[in-house]
This record gives sequence, structure tokens and C-alpha cells, in this order.
Amino acid sequence: MHEVKTLGVLGCGLMGSGIAQVAAQAGYRTIVLEVDQALLDDGLGRIEQFLSKGVARGKVTEDAKAATIANITGTTRYEDLKACDLVVEAIVENLDAKKDAYRHVEAVVRADAILASNTSSLCITELAASTTRPDRFAGLHFFNPVPLMKLVEVIRALTTSDETHRRLMAFAQALGKDPIVAPDRPGFIVNRLLVPYLLDAVRAYEHGLGSLEDIDKGMKLGCGHPMGPFTLLDFVGIDTTYYIANIMHDEFREPAYAPPPLLKRMLLAGRVGRKKGRGFYDYEGVKG
Ligand code: CAA
Ligand code: NAD
Repeated sequence: MHEVKTLGVLGCGLMGSGIAQVAAQAGYRTIVLEVDQALLDDGLGRIEQFLSKGVARGKVTEDAKAATIANITGTTRYEDLKACDLVVEAIVENLDAKKDAYRHVEAVVRADAILASNTSSLCITELAASTTRPDRFAGLHFFNPVPLMKLVEVIRALTTSDETHRRLMAFAQALGKDPIVAPDRPGFIVNRLLVPYLLDAVRAYEHGLGSLEDIDKGMKLGCGHPMGPFTLLDFVGIDTTYYIANIMHDEFREPAYAPPPLLKRMLLAGRVGRKKGRGFYDYEGVKG
């Protein structure tokens, strides 16, 4: 196996753009793939905006911003991932879409390249088994917003080799993250605890517990959470949370993981959260 020098990132949405940014900031040559040019431009724009805000806050120098941007190439063609030593997948939380993407990646990358998924809830062993490299596959679960959250969960499939695991732990550390080892169980460690809490907040709201604002304020000021549950749901994405809930519910068969009806209706209405301007709250005119 080669040391990781060139990184591929599949998806330049909320997570893919963050992963590409932190990798490029850490000096990796980073190639990020989207399904079309408009989505790619949106994702690259998100990186540019985050770095510009960092400059305005005095957290990022103009030189570091320029160096980060210079390390990132955007593409819509899988062939451009050919030189990647590691490809981190951060596309929609859907098993078939992910398997299909791996087939395309495997058609172009070297046999010894590592594949990792940023999935929130899917079975890593199942994803690994769908590839031709189950020993060179693992979960690499980042947290949103990637440039600010220190945690990465490294999840071994039953088939992941010691060498792959070692390299991914080292890669996470090289990005300045503080990785933990998490088991290949639905939701790993953090979402196993966080997702039932978020779903319960929606159920409680549906049952008239209080206003969105009061519930959010309660958890912020009463428990010291940085965001209340509805602000956090809008931040993560109602669509992504709905997919995660279904996947976890399918595995655990426990009501705590069942998506509340309101989530599905919000998804159907296009109210998927901050990224699209409206979720539980309205973000029209709010940038970034
Ligand atoms: N560039 C560089 N630094 C920046 C920056 C930028 N563009 N924007 C902010 N920062 C820095 C700030 O300077 C500040 O640093 P200091 O602490 O050194 O001063 C720090 O980041 C925090 O920034 P702010 O004060 O502006 O923001 P905040 O205090 O409101 O925190 C937040 C923002 C980190 C997002 C916080 O609200 C938070 O932690 N929210 C909860 C996020 C969360 O729970 N994420 C997990 C979601 S679940 C998940 O990801 C898993 C899944 O599978 C769904
Ligand atoms: P998102 O909707 O913001 O972005 C997903 C992106 O993937 C979209 O831009 C879409 O066009 C793109 N895409 C879809 N199919 C693709 C393909 N075949 N090739 C390339 N790009 C493709 O979603 P997100 O929030 O970034 O979530 C991505 C993954 O990260 C999911 O597996 C999710 O569960 C996980 N995750 C999300 C969060 C979060 O807070 N949102 C946190 C941790 C992990």
C-alpha cells in the first residue's frame, strides 16, 4: 500500500466539502467528485466561503486559504480519481447509491487504494463486502461542520485489515482530528445516542411539548448544548436524518429509531434544512 498523498472525495455536499477542505488544509492533494458541475460549483463555493470567513475572523491566513484552494481539484469524472491512494465517500445516505459509486471508483483506482465511507448509519461490513477490497475498506465518520469538529469515528468492517485501520487512524490524526474506534453497529457510537434524542425531540414537539424556540432554548441554556435539537436537525439535514432513522430502525426494530411522521412530510415538502433555506426554521437570506 502507498502512503496517502492523493485523496479522492465523493460528494461535495455538506460533508464532502468539509472533508475536502480539511484534507487540502493538511496538505493532501484532494480531488472531489460531484454528479454535475452546478453541484460541484456550490460545494467548492462553500469551501471558499468557509475559508474567507476564517480569514475575516483571523483564524486562517490569506496564504493558507490560497494553498488550501490550490490543493483541491473538482471533477465530475471518475477517471480523474485514478491517482488516489484513499477515496472517502460522502454521498447521499443510500446503500444502492453508495455501492454504485464504489463500482465506478474501483474501475479506475489502483488495487491497493483504500476506500472509506462517511456513512452515518449503514453497515460497514455490508459496504465492504460490496467491493473487491473488503480488507481495504472501513468507515471514516466525520462530524458536521467538519472543519470545526475534532472527532472522527474509525469503524472496522469484520474484514478490514489491521494495516487499513492503522492508515485511517493515522490519516484522521494527520487532519488534526482526534479519532476514536467505533463498532460496526448502526449509528456507531455518537449517532447511536444522538439520533434517538433528535427523533424524540420531534415526537415531543408533535405532541405539543412546546414551541420549537422554547425546546431549543431549553436544551441550549438548560443543558449547555451548542445547538438545540431543531437547530441541529436543520444543520444536519432533515433528509439525511430521515434516511439515517430508517436505516437504524430497520436494524434495531425499536420505536426509538422510527422516523416521526413530521420528518417525512418535511422532506416531501422540500424543507430539508439550512442547506436548502428552510427546515424547522427559515434561513432565507442566511448565507453559509
Ligand atoms: N474558519 C475558521 N474557524 C472558524 C470559522 C471559520 N470559518 N468559523 C468558526 N470558526 C471557529 C471560531 O473562531 C471559534 O473558535 P474559538 O473557539 O477558538 O474562538 C469556533 O470555530 C466556534 O465558532 P463560533 O463561535 O462562530 O461558533 P459557535 O460557537 O456558534 O459554534 C458550532 C459553531 C461548532 C457549529 C457549534 O454550534 C456546535 O458545536 N454545534 C453542534 C454541532 C454538532 O452537534 N455537530 C454534530 C452533528 S451530528 C453529525 O455530524 C453526525 C451525523 O452522522 C449526522
Ligand atoms: P448532502 O446532501 O449535503 O450531500 C451529498 C452530496 O452527494 C450531494 O451534493 C449529491 O449531489 C452528492 N452525490 C450523490 N451521489 C453522488 C455520486 N454518485 N457521486 C458524487 N456525488 C454524489 O449530504 P451530506 O450531509 O454531505 O451527507 C453525505 C454523507 O455523510 C451521508 O452518508 C451522511 O449520512 C453522512 N454524514 C452526514 C452528516 C451531516 O451532519 N449532514 C454528518 C456525518 C456524516
